[in-house]
Amino acid sequence: MSMNIAIDGPAGAGKSTIAKKVAKELGFIYVDTGAMYRSLALYFIRQGIDKDDEDKISEAVKDCNVTIKYVDGQQQVLLNDENVTGLIRTEEVGNMASASSVYASVRSKLLDLQRSLAANNDVIMDGRDIGTQVLPEAQVKVFLTASVDERASRRYKELVEKGLNPELNKIKKDIEERDYRDSHRENSPLRQADDATYVDSSDMSIDEVVSTIVDLCKNKM
Ligand code: DC
Repeated sequence: MSMNIAIDGPAGAGKSTIAKKVAKELGFIYVDTGAMYRSLALYFIRQGIDKDDEDKISEAVKDCNVTIKYVDGQQQVLLNDENVTGLIRTEEVGNMASASSVYASVRSKLLDLQRSLAANNDVIMDGRDIGTQVLPEAQVKVFLTASVDERASRRYKELVEKGLNPELNKIKKDIEERDYRDSHRENSPLRQADDATYVDSSDMSIDEVVSTIVDLCKNKM
């Protein structure tokens, strides 16, 4: 039987950085489910669909085929056979992903793909509803969070390092809006699973978080 680790938490909590490192240490596959929602969001943006138009989004999602592959251990997302991995990390796509992922048609499109990856591989999967909906039987569940100020300041530094000139207040406001939408939606809202370990990384280094999670996993292996 495959071993599954579920990492859920709000935007900017460091889930993907941490999950990639844990995956490397344990020899697991890292599955980034946010990237799947982002690839659908890119399709909706390209089609010029409004984020609030559920009917159009539910129609459009029928034309999408999302698959993933791994190149040098890195997840690549394919949207209708086009590798869109390099196109989905913008704020515009992130906001559309948060808005469109509230719809049941969008969520059900990705559920089978996520579950079949976990059934066939040892995976560490990150997202919003992995421990609660996608993999309720995961052997290890972590709810990874950090304060809004800390998440905004991490994001700010990332953008400055990329040579951009971001506004800290705007980043904070975006994070707060995303937190609210992700955790108040009707379908699979972001919440901590009852059996998940709560990890607040506000005052922890990346290595400390990684070793906390690796220890939880080793206890179950
Ligand atoms: O983790 P991320 O920022 O790449 O995710 C983008 C959006 O996708 C997020 O705001 C909500 C949605 N999402 C989701 O609803 N369920 C998941 N398992 C992963 C992401």
